[in-house]
Order: sequence, then structure tokens, then C-alpha cells
Amino acid sequence: MKTFPTWPNERDLARYAELTQLDFDDCLAKGTTWIDVGCRTGKALSQMFKKKKIVPVGVNAHQMKVRSGIHSVFAALPEDSSVYQQYQRGADLVTDIYGAVAYADNPLNVLIYEACLLKGKAQAVIITLEEKIISIDQEIFQQLKSFFKTVMGQSIKFKKFTTYSDNTKSPIKTLRITIQGSCHSNLNLQDLFNEGKKHIGMARKTKVLYQSRDATAQIWQVVYE
Ligand SMILES: C[S@@+](CC[C@H](N)C(=O)[O-])C[C@H]1O[C@@H](n2cnc3c(N)ncnc32)[C@H](O)[C@@H]1O
Repeated sequence: MKTFPTWPNERDLARYAELTQLDFDDCLAKGTTWIDVGCRTGKALSQMFKKKKIVPVGVNAHQMKVRSGIHSVFAALPEDSSVYQQYQRGADLVTDIYGAVAYADNPLNVLIYEACLLKGKAQAVIITLEEKIISIDQEIFQQLKSFFKTVMGQSIKFKKFTTYSDNTKSPIKTLRITIQGSCHSNLNLQDLFNEGKKHIGMARKTKVLYQSRDATAQIWQVVYE
């Protein structure tokens, strides 16, 4: 397990709401399951747990102390299938705020993985840098929409917006990705990854968009070709 990089302060529930545009009180009732991929200590999850007695699940690729009450899983998506095995079609909400999609070398596979965790009326909201995913022919959003509709049976939406860096307060071009509904495909995770590769292409890392102060964690731009 990787040691923890020097990242700025962890975001709270209010900042999560700002970035995702979710009303957490509205979309989570008592007893519902919220999986936060890249939860860190689980500040936002814990705030919601105290308000509503939800089932908070926090996933991290790095070893750290996670707040009490949170079901903590240490797994790097998409390679580690333990979260998929335990929570396939089991989440009422999945969030990923500058977590696995931002840091993974193949963000498409993370999107597929997170989409597989959703229950029927659930949604996944992912926040990453705008430049994270591109395709050689620049039509990545259309390709992803078509892939999710035809293969996964789910809708995927993209919204570009500018927010501020929580660290330096400078403007930061951001991408919000929203996936809705549960996956209708009977294919297993690996076969879905293979379908993704056929439809969208191979992921290739091109340039570093961000790195943690100690340079142990990088967000790479990925091109699909
Ligand atoms: C910059 S922190 C973001 C923490 C929190 N979401 C926030 O907004 O304050 C990145 C988090 O993503 C996790 N992460 C990075 N790559 C991941 C991966 N491939 N799978 C699962 N978690 C990952 C890290 O372990 C860390 O908890």
C-alpha cells in the first residue's frame, strides 16, 4: 500500500456539495449506502453519517486512518476488484472527488467500475481536472455517451466549470461527470473493460497536470487512441 502524499486539506461536506451540485440530504435517506472513492479520512462521509445514519463506505488507495463509523476499504481502482465484488449494484450514491478517476492511468476503467456500483435509481458524481481525458479525434464525450448507453445501459453527462484550487485559491478548470442508473450489462468487469477499450481506445499518459507537493502522486492527462 502506498504511503500518503502531501496533499492540501481534506474537503468537507459543504465543499463536496459545491463541487458536485448535490443536495446530500435529498439524495441520501437513513440506511442508504454512500461510497466515496478517494475519501481520505472520510470527513464528508462522517458529517453525513452524523446527520442521517447512512451507511458510509470510504475507499482509499493510500494507507491512512479513516474516521470511526466508516466502512473503510483500501483498494486502488480499477485494478483491485474488491469494492466491485462487495458493492456491485449496492450503492445509492458514489462520489469521486479528485480521487480514482483523477489519479488513475485509465480513467475510463474507473468510470466503468464506479458505474457498476450503482443501484437502479442511484448516481455517481465524479470531479476531475477538465484536461484529464481527451481523445485523438477530440470526440471523447460523444464516444463515452454512446458506450455507456449501448454497452452499460446508463446515461453519462459532462459539465465543464471553473472552480478554485483548495490549496492556492487560483482558478482551476474542472470537469463534473455524472452517471445515472444501474448497469444493465451481464458482462463481468474485465469484459466491460475490454469493451471500453474496443469502443474508446487504449489509454496513453501524455503530460502531468498536477503533482502533490512531495511529488509522490501525479494527475496525468490521458489520451485515448
Ligand atoms: C487528493 S485526495 C482527495 C480526498 C477527498 N476526496 C477530498 O476531496 O478532499 C485523493 C484521494 O484519492 C485516493 N485515490 C487516488 N487514486 C486512487 C485509486 N486509483 N483508487 C482509489 N482511490 C484512489 C487517494 O488514496 C486519496 O484518498
